[in-house]
Amino acid sequence: MPTRDSPQNRKLMLRTETEIITLAERVIGASNRKHSADSVLREVLNAEHGLSKAASALASRAVFAYFRWKGWLDESKPVRSQITQALQLAERFKREPEKFSDADMLARAVPDWLAAEMDITAAWVRSLQAEPKLWLRAQHARGKAISAQLGGCRAFGDGLLADILEYVGDADLFRTTEFQAGEFEIQDISSQAVGLICAPLPGQTWWDVCAGEGGKTLHLSALMQNRGLIWASDRAAWRLQKLRRRTARARVFNYRAAGWNGGAKLPTKTKFDGVLVDAPCSGIGTWQRNPHARWTTSAQDLKELGALQKQLLCHASAAVKPGGKLIYAVCTLVRSETTEVVETFEAQDSDFARLAVRNPLEVKSPASAPLYFWPQQYGGNGMFVTVWTRTGSA
Ligand SMILES: C[S@@+](CC[C@H](N)C(=O)[O-])C[C@H]1O[C@@H](n2cnc3c(N)ncnc32)[C@H](O)[C@@H]1O
Repeated sequence: MPTRDSPQNRKLMLRTETEIITLAERVIGASNRKHSADSVLREVLNAEHGLSKAASALASRAVFAYFRWKGWLDESKPVRSQITQALQLAERFKREPEKFSDADMLARAVPDWLAAEMDITAAWVRSLQAEPKLWLRAQHARGKAISAQLGGCRAFGDGLLADILEYVGDADLFRTTEFQAGEFEIQDISSQAVGLICAPLPGQTWWDVCAGEGGKTLHLSALMQNRGLIWASDRAAWRLQKLRRRTARARVFNYRAAGWNGGAKLPTKTKFDGVLVDAPCSGIGTWQRNPHARWTTSAQDLKELGALQKQLLCHASAAVKPGGKLIYAVCTLVRSETTEVVETFEAQDSDFARLAVRNPLEVKSPASAPLYFWPQQYGGNGMFVTVWTRTGSA
């Protein structure tokens, strides 16, 4: 017989809504600046082996609703009643968004300090209160086929854009044979736009400076039809390890992974046709997907990140060939990490000319420099992108 607190018994007990809310309460209590709600939730759900898909989904919804609607909640109430209130607010916003005034949204959805860093619009904060979309990128120009195989997909457009799929189904995508065979990647639409802006050509040599787990390396390689070479570097060895696993799954071979921490000594003497600096950032552009970060990010973080971004851009730019491209991309929208970084770089390095580029997600759009992607446009992350070309000698 399992004891009252034995793992088997807890599995059986975790069935009712009340119990799932208790689980969410535990996640919220353990989440802080060092431990994101997202990672705590993953740990807790992994430990609850017997939890059904519906129960896991409810626990996730409860945790994210709590942080998404935190500005509306009565903190004097117990956390579990705040969770219930948050779920009700989320439901009501879905049904009757017009019942929430712009003024209320602007006052409650994001912390006050943000106003000094960006022009906050009602459209943006409204987009933060909706549940995020899930985006896939089909490999090998097989958007249509993948869409038919998986079901539950909506293609974003035609041509190259037919490989951008919004997933509205409820399958566990990581378990699908298509995913295991590397036929698609889960990648936000704005991140996909960054790859399209880079537009590397087959046979070229590129450096993905902050390659992380390889989301953009994989996209660059696909656009290069697996020909040419990509250097993929990152400070975090564990991320590069994941990149190696992902590239193996996707059968991407035209890359070399190397550690680099942003210092003046570059990982290679190679001069590149293109250098992508997908820099570490506050992630304010992902606040729709990651609402916990709204309450853990500080104005001081932005200053520190801005300094790191300037350093990475300045050092990495040395590796761009004359005539080559340099791309700075961040999933944030605040001045300290966007225009200030770009302006400081341009003031220091006159070898680079800013290029006006078209938004690749629009069939017709004027070229602009820089480009902003807002969550309210496509239901993806907020992103800032600037492109330069090296005009002088390296
Ligand atoms: C925005 S993420 C990169 C995401 C990745 N390009 C993708 O598309 O999947 C930023 C990356 O910068 C790395 N990073 C942070 N500080 C760094 C530093 N000082 N030097 C090099 N990389 C750094 C982080 O480990 C993280 O992987």
